[in-house]
Amino acid sequence: MTLAFSKVAIIGAGAMGRGIAQIAAQAGSQVWLYDTQAEAIQKARDAVFLQWDKLQEKGRLTPEAVAGHKSRLLGATRMQDLAECELVVEAIVEKLDIKKSLFTELEKVLPPTAVLVTNTSSLSVTAIAAALQRPAQFAGYHFFNPVPLMKVVEVIAGLKTDASVCQRLSDFATQMGHTPVQAQDTPGFIVNHAGRGYGTEALRIVSEGVADFATIDRILRDQVGFKLGPFELFDLTALDVSHHVIESIYHQYYEEPRYRPNVITAQRLAGGVVGKKVGEGFYKYVDGAAQVPAEPPVPVVDNTPPVWVSPRAARRMELLQLLKDLGAKIETGSSPSPEALTLVAPLGFDITTVAVVERLDPARTVGIDMLIDDAATKRRVLAVNPATRADMRDAAHALFARDGKAVSVIRDSGGFITQRVVATIVNIASDICQQRICTPEDLETAVTLGLAYPMGPLAMGNRYGPTNVLEVLFNLQTVYGDPRYRPSPWLRRRGAIGLSLMHTED
Ligand code: NAI
Repeated sequence: MTLAFSKVAIIGAGAMGRGIAQIAAQAGSQVWLYDTQAEAIQKARDAVFLQWDKLQEKGRLTPEAVAGHKSRLLGATRMQDLAECELVVEAIVEKLDIKKSLFTELEKVLPPTAVLVTNTSSLSVTAIAAALQRPAQFAGYHFFNPVPLMKVVEVIAGLKTDASVCQRLSDFATQMGHTPVQAQDTPGFIVNHAGRGYGTEALRIVSEGVADFATIDRILRDQVGFKLGPFELFDLTALDVSHHVIESIYHQYYEEPRYRPNVITAQRLAGGVVGKKVGEGFYKYVDGAAQVPAEPPVPVVDNTPPVWVSPRAARRMELLQLLKDLGAKIETGSSPSPEALTLVAPLGFDITTVAVVERLDPARTVGIDMLIDDAATKRRVLAVNPATRADMRDAAHALFARDGKAVSVIRDSGGFITQRVVATIVNIASDICQQRICTPEDLETAVTLGLAYPMGPLAMGNRYGPTNVLEVLFNLQTVYGDPRYRPSPWLRRRGAIGLSLMHTED
C-alpha cells in the first residue's frame, strides 16, 4: 500500500514530537523535525538515532534499515523548509493561543491540500481549528507517551473536519504500526475521559477513610487485575500532570459530578508531594522503590463460630460452597443462632444498612464482596460496620484466609472498593457510548492499549454483569444521594434487556 503521507513535518521536538518522528520515519515517510530551539532538534535526532542503534544491536533492525530510517529523519530550522509537506503534526507547548498562531503561520507556507493535526491532549480541536482558513483539513492526532511503545492513536474530528482526512490519518497510523481509534472532539477524547473513573473514585474512597492507599491498590490489583493500583499510577504519572487533567475535564464538562476532583490531590500538589519523580507521592521511594506498608497479619483465632449467610447475599450459592471448602460450620436456619458469625454480601449498600434492613445483629455482621467470582480473584475483601465485634471480625478474617488467599478488611462504606471503582469505570465508559464519542469497539481498544486495563471497560461490565453494576450504582446513589453514581442511560438499557448486548448499534 502506498504511504498515506510520504512527506511529514513534526513541529516540536520534545518527548512526543521525537516519538512521532521516529515511527513516521520507520514507516518510510520523509520526516522534517522543526522546533524553535535548534538544540532541541539535535537532541531529539540524537535520541531517536540512539534508539535505532540499540534496536540494531539487539538484532531487531538491519543496518540497512537503520541507515534508511536515519536518512529520512531531517531537522528543519525554517518554516519554509516544510513547504512540501503533506502532513504537519504539531506537538508544541499546550497553549491554545500559541498553537493557533503556529497553525495560522503554517497555512501560509503549506499547500492547500496539506493536512494539519495537533497532538493536544486537553485542548479542543475545534477551538484550534477556528483560527484556520481550512478547518476541514485539520484534525486531532493524539498519541501517548512513549509513542513507539504506546501503540494507539486517537484520530479526532473537529466540528468541520472532513471525514476523508480522518480516514487518511487512520490509514497512516496503521502504516506506522499503531492502532487508530476515531473520536469526536470532546474533553479528554476517549482515553483521558474513560480513565477518569479509576483514580477519582479511589480518591473518594480514601477520603472517606474506608482504607489506606496501599490497601486500595492491593485490592484493585488482586481483585480486578489492574497492573497498577490507582495510587501507584498517580505516583508514576505525577500529580503535577494528573491533577490538572482531572480538573480540566471536570470544568470542561461544566462540573459534571462524575468527574469531580478531590481535595487530596490538590493538597498534595500544593505540598509538592507529587509522585515517584520527587521521591515521594502517595508512597515514599527509596532508590526508586516504593516503600509499601506491610499488610496486617491474619489473626490467630481459637474457635471459629458457625456461619450464617443472608438469603439476599450476592452469589449466595458460590459463597456457601466457598465456606464449605474452607471447612466452616454452616447454619441453615432462617435466622442466625445467637453465636453465629453473620455474613452479608451486598452490591452497593453498606453493611450497616443491610444489618438494619435485614434485622441482623450488627455486632456479629461482616460483609464480603461477591461482585466477582471468588475463583477469578486473588484477594477476598471483608467489611465491618462500626458495631462489628473484634472477635467476629477476626474470626471472619481467619476463616477466609484458611486456604492461603489474601484477605483485606476494610471499613464500612456504600459498596466495596472494587464495586465502586468497577461500577464507576463501566458507567463512565457507557456514557462515552451514550454521547457517541466513539464506537464501543474503539472505546475498548483505546482503553486496553492506552490505559493498559486488564480488559476494556465494557468487557468489564459484561464480565461482572450489567445488572450487578447497575444494582451497585442504584444503591450507591441511595447511600450517598450523589448524582455522580447516576447510571448512564446507555448502561441502564443494557442492564434492562440482557447481559451480552454491549456491542450493539444502540
Ligand atoms: P515538550 O515540552 O517535551 O516539548 C515541546 C517542544 O516544543 C519543545 O522542544 C519546545 O521547544 C517546542 N516548542 C514550543 N513552542 C514552539 C513553537 N511555537 N514552535 C515550535 N516549537 C515549539 O512537550 P511534550 O510532552 O512533547 O508535549 C507536546 C504536546 O503533546 C503538548 O500539546 C502535550 O499536551 C501533548 N501530549 C503530551 C503527552 C505527554 O505525555 N507528554 C501525551 C499526549 C499529548
